[in-house]
Amino acid sequence: MTPTLQSIGNTSLNGTRLSIQNKSAPGFYPTYMFGHKQKLVTEILELVPSSARTLVEPFSGTGIVSWHAKKAGLRVIGNDIRRFAALQFKVLVANNDTLLTDDDLSVLIQPSEGASLIEQYFVRIYGTRNAHFLDHWIANIPRLENSSKRDMAAWLPVFCTQRRMKYYATHLSRKGHLPGSERLIRTDFAKEMLSGAQNVLPKLVVDNGQANEAYNEDGTTLLEHVEADVAFIDTPYCCQRGNYGSDLAFYDDLVRICLGQGAEIRDILDGNCDLPPYTNFASRRTAVSGFGQLFLKASHIPTLIVSYNTSSKISIREIQNLAKAAGRNLTALREFQRPLPTNTKRASSTQEVLLRFDSQHSSDPARDELNQSKG
Ligand SMILES: C[S@@+](CC[C@H](N)C(=O)[O-])C[C@H]1O[C@@H](n2cnc3c(N)ncnc32)[C@H](O)[C@@H]1O
Repeated sequence: MTPTLQSIGNTSLNGTRLSIQNKSAPGFYPTYMFGHKQKLVTEILELVPSSARTLVEPFSGTGIVSWHAKKAGLRVIGNDIRRFAALQFKVLVANNDTLLTDDDLSVLIQPSEGASLIEQYFVRIYGTRNAHFLDHWIANIPRLENSSKRDMAAWLPVFCTQRRMKYYATHLSRKGHLPGSERLIRTDFAKEMLSGAQNVLPKLVVDNGQANEAYNEDGTTLLEHVEADVAFIDTPYCCQRGNYGSDLAFYDDLVRICLGQGAEIRDILDGNCDLPPYTNFASRRTAVSGFGQLFLKASHIPTLIVSYNTSSKISIREIQNLAKAAGRNLTALREFQRPLPTNTKRASSTQEVLLRFDSQHSSDPARDELNQSKG
């Protein structure tokens, strides 16, 4: 018989956990992606041991969890296989103090010679005026003085695009049509991007005085080479909706264009963002081997907080067994009704679950509390 959540039981952790100064996530943090954990940030951070100093997020997505962890005082390390997610982490989370000044903005908006890939491929999406503006902006990015500013300038066009899109997921057609992009043509990108730089970014960039890091690689292999006290592991679920590689490919290609790597894109209109081979969690078989690898590669990280969804093909018991084989115990389990995306009123039949695993050698009081309550 397949074990149910109830047969594993809800475990409890007592004691003070990470203090979250502002419990409600700011409405202005960009979470334009399915699967983001904005509504579970408080519960996730409550599972972080109070002794933890560094948190790694190998599947960081929007970066919202680490952004809050950073605000709560942790050094954060983020990673995502998709370029836009990795870039967002670099710009909004790892970054402590870079902003675009008025001088930078006047460089970016100057007329300039350069490739005009936006006009060439996306004029139906943005309209001629916006396409010209974006092409000039992109051509001027290399003139900024350092790579942090260049990253920020490359992030802004994608951010301004996503916030005006009707859907999170979208597929560019061969004819250059992007479903859900109807509002982009009416949007004044010059105004939006300057406002993004002057009004949005200063609210999002916070300084925790620590050497935060951002990576763009397979999350499983990343764990092998980073040092952290706790990892928040939010792999893609194996459910019908949402394929991060293809549904969000348009944004990754746009990032490459903005970073001056447009010529390296195999085919801008193929709905594929040429990701390198990476661990996927889409079937039961790959999820089992993926989690097995994750637990092995994270053996030096004392605490792992795993996000799970009941639509996954792998069961909690299987994850627990893989953890056990790698020398870890389940020390907390929390269930939540799946947070509804803001743009739908449909109730969800699936549940989000947070699992905390501690290394058997860890001396964290949470493990002892749990053992005592079992005993
Ligand atoms: C469920 S989402 C993470 C959501 C994130 N916690 C948030 O709150 O925004 C999963 C993320 O994993 C990324 N991803 C998928 N497979 C990956 C892999 N093998 N290595 C690194 N990132 C991967 C996807 O691009 C996606 O952004």
